Amino acid sequence: MNKIINHDRTAVTVIGLGNMGVALAEAFLKGGHPTTVWNRSANKADGLVAKGAALAATFADAVAASPVVIICLSTYEVMHEQLSPLTDELSGRVLVNLTSGTPDQARNTAIWAAEREVEYLDGAIMAVPQLIGLPETLIFYGGSKTLFEAHAPLLRVFGGNAAYLGDDHGAPLLYDLALLTMLYGSVYGYLHAHAFLSTANISPTAFLPFATNWVNHVIAPSITNPDSARALEERNYATDVSNLNTNKLGLEHIIRASKELDIPAEWLKPLHAIAAQQVAEGYGNDAFERVFEALRKS
Ligand SMILES: NC(=O)c1ccc[n+]([C@@H]2O[C@H](COP(=O)([O-])OP(=O)(O)OC[C@H]3O[C@@H](n4cnc5c(N)ncnc54)[C@H](OP(=O)(O)O)[C@@H]3O)[C@@H](O)[C@H]2O)c1
Repeated sequence: MNKIINHDRTAVTVIGLGNMGVALAEAFLKGGHPTTVWNRSANKADGLVAKGAALAATFADAVAASPVVIICLSTYEVMHEQLSPLTDELSGRVLVNLTSGTPDQARNTAIWAAEREVEYLDGAIMAVPQLIGLPETLIFYGGSKTLFEAHAPLLRVFGGNAAYLGDDHGAPLLYDLALLTMLYGSVYGYLHAHAFLSTANISPTAFLPFATNWVNHVIAPSITNPDSARALEERNYATDVSNLNTNKLGLEHIIRASKELDIPAEWLKPLHAIAAQQVAEGYGNDAFERVFEALRKS
């Protein structure tokens, strides 16, 4: 059924109708916004057109159709490939870029936009498409505060938790990569754990209660507590709980057992090397967080 388009609402364009772009356009349609869409493969717009979206014939027409343009393509390279042939179609418009990439790509795009008098916000979506439009969905934004505040009600259509991080356009992707690094590190550890367990035919389901207990009572408290955050900030690694000597040995046991059981453990060797170096330098009684000294930008 067609959604009712409310012409008092800001007209918007969504460029890129992959899994995420379709969810973004649907959220606008649900909110009653006149919505223009464009995608390289035009057939992906069919469902949105049936719900009331207008399909632009060209990328330039899509940009010219609305004062606010949301872009969500696979990479910054793809985005610039599409943007570079434009002449002045974007000038005076607001461009909100939700494409994933690196902080420097976002900062360079902000410079590119300023040179063309395009008002630019960069954003990072911390959710899967099914979560777009929910009150708790977190999306980071960076750029001019005035610009963000003027468009915050519109951007909250995508997710109620629209977090403004300041005028650095690179901040959203820095936060995004920080969280993703935590995710991939923990998921790799989870999969390594199951590689261990599979050598004795222990199923993931059987192990689940213990994994849940460990995550909730040991892992989560150790990386989401103010004392650990303060230790990193103050570079004060004193501990009476679990020191580098103990954790270095723990890593050695994992690496040795992995070898015995024929499981790859290469990913842990750089971490072990840092811990061993710091122990050799006399920091064995410090907390494991001292490893941060070897990782942080000096
Ligand atoms: N999906 C998620 O869960 C999620 C979560 C957070 C952030 N994101 C970010 O959102 C962005 C889009 O993700 P997605 O899941 O929607 O990806 P996707 O489903 O793979 O869609 C990719 C989009 O990029 C377009 N594209 C790729 N190469 C192109 C080219 N050479 N020229 C023109 N268009 C091109 C595709 O067009 P065609 O349809 O023509 O191929 C499509 O619109 C990514 O940066 C992703 O990291 C996604």
